[in-house]
Amino acid sequence: MRIGVLTGGGDCPGLNAVIRAIVRSGVNRHGHSIVGFRYGWAGVLSDNAIELTPQNTAGILPRGGTILGSSRTNPYKGDANGTEAVRATLEREGIDIVIPIGGEDTLGVAGRLSGDGVPIVGVPKTIDNDLAGTDYTFGFDTAVQICTDAIDRVHTTAESHNRVLVVEVMGRHAGHIAVHSGMAGGADVILIPERPFDIDQVCESLRRRHSSGRTFSIVVVSEGAVPRDGTGLTTVSGEKDAFGHERLGGIAVTLEKEIEERTGYETRMTILGHVQRGGTPTAYDRVLATRFGVEAVAAATEGDFGNMVALRGRDIIRVPLAEALTEPKLVDPRLFDTAEVFFG
Ligand code: F6P
Repeated sequence: MRIGVLTGGGDCPGLNAVIRAIVRSGVNRHGHSIVGFRYGWAGVLSDNAIELTPQNTAGILPRGGTILGSSRTNPYKGDANGTEAVRATLEREGIDIVIPIGGEDTLGVAGRLSGDGVPIVGVPKTIDNDLAGTDYTFGFDTAVQICTDAIDRVHTTAESHNRVLVVEVMGRHAGHIAVHSGMAGGADVILIPERPFDIDQVCESLRRRHSSGRTFSIVVVSEGAVPRDGTGLTTVSGEKDAFGHERLGGIAVTLEKEIEERTGYETRMTILGHVQRGGTPTAYDRVLATRFGVEAVAAATEGDFGNMVALRGRDIIRVPLAEALTEPKLVDPRLFDTAEVFFG
């Protein structure tokens, strides 16, 4: 069997661990050959491919990013006949099955191709952990650890200067990173997309905390957090990617200004941005990524197409690709309730 692999969308710690697992199990255990497409679906459209071997993928397990490169290319953009273009390359390269490693957009393309009869097994990826169909995605644990380390650091400087520190983390549709890192880092307020916030209530909660003798506060906010209508705050930059998603980021700038003006507490903000996606994956993410890669090859070998590998409880399972493409998986309200115990 000849398997094509690609990594699409935002990069994520653990991608190289998946690639390594696909190559090692594909070649050594099953005798397949593996072709890597460069820069996501862009590499399939332009037939930019390299042969992947256990030799040229050695040593990549702890490396962040992706040795294949990534992009947010949409083969169906506009009126493009993505399926025909992808099929042409697969035929030219003699590929029997494609394993795309990606989030909602990359797997959305995969779902469409699969519907058109292209043999696909998907591997879910996103630091946001908001993909339905899997309990966890690799990269999330690493991002949460990076954010927690950052919150620990701003804690000591906030305390020294009697300031409010606003830390903006990633999370487009869901606040998983904010809730987990905020809980781990002892945040006093956590704002997430699932719970539109009222700036007056945020300030009131900070005032309560400070009037009880505390001299500093930490606010953790998801980039996708939105104010309740009427407050006049906004997070939208106006830019859109090839899949039509708005580029987020900057809510912390607004919060810094609003909190300082309304409370009189000196306030500073930090946007963690792509720091959260960089560097070496945690042990948890390396293991999850490895399990996903091995299972994807097993599914491919069995001819079990149209699926995505997933984590359910402690087990690696296969779910229909379509399941991954339903509504994003949001923060469990019970977890947020627990986080709220420590607010203010
Ligand atoms: O989807 C993962 C993610 O990191 C989001 O949290 C974030 O909104 C987006 O990617 C950023 O994308 P880019 O790297 O294109 O700026």
